[in-house]
Amino acid sequence: MRLLITFTAVLAVASAQNATNRFPADFMFGAATAAYQVEGAWNEDGKGESIQDYMFHNYPEYMIGEDNGDVACDSYHQYLQDVEMLKTLNADIYRFSIAWSRVLPNGDLDFINQAGIDYYNNLIDALLANGIQPLVTMYHWDLPQALQYIGGWPNELLVDYFVEYARLLFQNFGDRVKWWLTFNEPHQFTMGYAMLGVAPSQPAPGIGDYLATHTVIKAHARVWHMYDEEFRATQNGSVGITLNMDWPEPETNSTEDAEAADRARQFVMGMFAHPIYSQDGDYPAVVRQQVDANSAAEGRPRSRLPTFTQEEIEYIRGSADFFGMNHYNTTFVTPGLTGESPSKTRDTAVITSDPVRLPWGLRKQLNWVASQYPGYPIIITENGRLNFGGRNDTDRIEYYTEYLGAMLEAINTDGVPVIGYTAWSLIDTIEWNLGFTVTYGLCEVDKTSPNMTRTPKESAAFMSEVFRTKELPSQYNLY
Ligand code: FCB
Repeated sequence: MRLLITFTAVLAVASAQNATNRFPADFMFGAATAAYQVEGAWNEDGKGESIQDYMFHNYPEYMIGEDNGDVACDSYHQYLQDVEMLKTLNADIYRFSIAWSRVLPNGDLDFINQAGIDYYNNLIDALLANGIQPLVTMYHWDLPQALQYIGGWPNELLVDYFVEYARLLFQNFGDRVKWWLTFNEPHQFTMGYAMLGVAPSQPAPGIGDYLATHTVIKAHARVWHMYDEEFRATQNGSVGITLNMDWPEPETNSTEDAEAADRARQFVMGMFAHPIYSQDGDYPAVVRQQVDANSAAEGRPRSRLPTFTQEEIEYIRGSADFFGMNHYNTTFVTPGLTGESPSKTRDTAVITSDPVRLPWGLRKQLNWVASQYPGYPIIITENGRLNFGGRNDTDRIEYYTEYLGAMLEAINTDGVPVIGYTAWSLIDTIEWNLGFTVTYGLCEVDKTSPNMTRTPKESAAFMSEVFRTKELPSQYNLY
């Protein structure tokens, strides 16, 4: 009898341990890329110029090594190798982005580039033939240059252009694509209207970035409503947006530092998440107050941050089916004025440390998102570790072990509804201003070989086991 009890107890402990090491059975694992970073073929088969093409061609000094994405990883021709790598990874899902100017070279419906539509059809079909679901980002920072000539995102007319582009995507791909992201990391790309070197490199800090923010939020909401009204009944997919943040942790336990951390979270993520995902809608109160007060102190007749009408607030609120979240690191914050005046940085009034790799930051951030914006499933659409190359990437295995462990704690212990995860990145990509000097890939790309051969790294072998078993092997559970 006694023996039996002990044996049962051991079993119970073992299965409890397994439970914390195991991801939900229907959890979606995969990897991510973005068009500019992998496709190349920048002007092939009718593709139009994007703001990335324009900036890196005209200002090559903005990319280390004066490189650019003209060829990148040549995924336009080598996409079947990418699919092959995803199979090696046992991926359930592939997050990639569509280059707007590949399907609409002028950004408008005046010319639909069939070759571009064909390319994405081929990619989507190859994924599905291999049991991999596409998760498609509509906008990963590559606005058609033609739309930048009319002002880019600060011009609210872009809402209409974006909605029409999105409709074309739903019409052409929505029968097979069930997971959509409107925008990737608006906090990052709206900086293109605040500083040089981020496309389209228009330095109007604290003004241009806020105008762009306003347009992007409206464009997102319009696309979600359009899907809801015109496509959901027949296509039955989900539409979200990806918002990024490095977790801001207060430097000390003082009230001032706690408030600084809250401000940082609201200016980086809340600015976009609050209008869409919070119960009240609109910009976070602290963002509104800070920018309004600073604008008044600067003697301006209006706030640098535009306002939504009550009708818009209600239209935008709830315009998502899931929450896409990117996270890489943690920072430590304290109050303080930094950055030029005016600027988003100065409005935030926070001094931020260099980023640090601390997996509990991911767990805290997931809990924060779940509590601020309850009721939305979360997909981690990016998480990963850079290094300087090589297939023997034990540092990356360590990173994923710790961060996947933190995600597991958030899911199994804290009850955060994370339903999927795509690692950044599938292959070594062009890393924007850093060019090819750093790598995030699970797979290496041999840029000297004619077909840019992809080879899985050691991290890919590790991830393929996690993806297959939906379990973090306990010997790896360092967290
Ligand atoms: C994110 C971007 C992605 C990649 C990673 C490292 O900010 O969305 O394209 O560059 O960082």
